[in-house]
Amino acid sequence: MVNKFVILFICLLITNVSFAKPQAAIAMPDKYSADVAVKILQQGGNAIDVAVGSAFVLAVTYPEAGNLGGGGFMTIFAKPSNKEPRRSYFLDYREKAPLLASKNMYLDSKKNVIPYKSLIGYKASGVPGTVAGMWDAHQKFGSLPWQDLLQPAIKLAKNGFKVDEKLPATANWYKKWILNKSKQPLNFNKYFGSLKKDQLFKQPILAKTLNRLASFGASDFYTGQTAKYIVEQMQQHGGLITKKDLTEYKVKWRKPIVANWLGYQVISAPPPSSGGVAIVQLLKMKEILDAKFEIAKLKATKKGIDEQVVEAHFYAELSKRVYADRAKYLGDADFINVPVAELIAEQYLNKRAKQISFDKISDTEKVSAGLAESFETTHFSIVDFAGNAVANTYTLNMPFGSGVVIEKAGFLMNNEMDDFSTKPNVANIYGVIGGKANEIAPAKRMLSSMSPTILLKNNQVDTVVGTPGGSSIITSVFQTLVNVKQKNMTAEQAVDATRVHHQLLPKDIIMYNPSLKKEVKKQLEKMGYQLRFNNYLGDVQLVTKKNGRWQGAADKRGRGVARVIN
Ligand code: DON
Repeated sequence: MVNKFVILFICLLITNVSFAKPQAAIAMPDKYSADVAVKILQQGGNAIDVAVGSAFVLAVTYPEAGNLGGGGFMTIFAKPSNKEPRRSYFLDYREKAPLLASKNMYLDSKKNVIPYKSLIGYKASGVPGTVAGMWDAHQKFGSLPWQDLLQPAIKLAKNGFKVDEKLPATANWYKKWILNKSKQPLNFNKYFGSLKKDQLFKQPILAKTLNRLASFGASDFYTGQTAKYIVEQMQQHGGLITKKDLTEYKVKWRKPIVANWLGYQVISAPPPSSGGVAIVQLLKMKEILDAKFEIAKLKATKKGIDEQVVEAHFYAELSKRVYADRAKYLGDADFINVPVAELIAEQYLNKRAKQISFDKISDTEKVSAGLAESFETTHFSIVDFAGNAVANTYTLNMPFGSGVVIEKAGFLMNNEMDDFSTKPNVANIYGVIGGKANEIAPAKRMLSSMSPTILLKNNQVDTVVGTPGGSSIITSVFQTLVNVKQKNMTAEQAVDATRVHHQLLPKDIIMYNPSLKKEVKKQLEKMGYQLRFNNYLGDVQLVTKKNGRWQGAADKRGRGVARVIN
């Protein structure tokens, strides 16, 4: 008898199954959303309930990116009912171009891009998708009542929340950034222009809107009172969004990008995001070259060159190819043919990887573009006690979006139209270019880099990850995955580690955060790179399994909180 138990115990140890109580884990962008997430889990809510409750909280406490007037993506591993097996889903609630949008809408009569028109004011917004996204996710997977899930957000809007130091800092940055850039009156300052650290910030109008959403669901936003307020204000100020745009807005359930990597199944964002394709390309090309990478590091160390120099150069070379593909082929697959299968095919990636030299920088065409410095989107990662997971990234695009608050509803509108290619080969605010694949068309979704990603191991959730950071989202998710799964760092180490970013253009520029060793910088400069510190290279939220137990980490670059719930 005793022997039987001993054998069973050893078997369980070997197969990594434990008797330990199931855990849940979250990594959220601020403490309010983290608190609410834990509460919903403790009340028996599932990962999707947590996502919905937290997304509405962030629309209150994280107004630079949490939103009602924006859009995003949700990667899910769950089962809609007890009869179905748990599997992966991808919810696209990205904004759409208004029906009145047109290809050259941001160009002047000489076909030059009108500065900031796609970024600031009433014409910068796509038709928002967030409310429809949360509603559809809840309809399909939710277990707690919708009304209940909105209560924490309503309370925080009505009674106020204590402002931390980062929110006023970003608001002040944005205030200065929009100054004199728009001829139209913006009402951003009236709502967010004088926020102070530690003040109790109440948003009574937003509380009313959230109350209506709680009572009437998404229909209030698209065909009800809130829709009326949006359309009214758009009409008064020459905005493009009409009643028809709102009525016709629909989310889309899409097939996620799926690939195998180091024994994991990677599940990530398909078009209109470039994220999934790009991350799979990076991971796979790295895998193809890993043996050569090890040799190159050995050779370099012998010559007194730091390993990090080889790594940064290697990542830059991988990224260069990925961002070139992104610019040419990626866009909304409902409008153009995106050759997804070809782009992540083994043969193609082998060919691309073989062009990389560990010794020298490959040529880039001369095009100048610059990256701006303060961005906001926000991501959260959730696994519940039952093993369901949500990776959700949503955004207004830039912090505080277009600077336009819908006065009677108390929320900001996005400036996502800038994610379209406004003119072929002219860089957007993130310095990335595009062409035909991502040109503007009515009802089309603009290309994104948002990459909410889940890893499965033996068909169980192993990792949930994502980040803001505009075009650097892709390289941040890639490096975090390599750090945590290949280099075996802890969750915290993986998230906080220095990240580098290169995106083809601007030519031969590597961004980094936090700092690189002086020697590494010097040696990279010697190779021909220019180095730039970027004060906002992502805010990764990661939960990942280590030895069968969850670890969570919120990036030290942001104000996030991660928790494991036992
Ligand atoms: O969809 C995209 O790729 C961008 N609109 C995301 C913006 C972003 O990440 C800004 N935050 N850091």
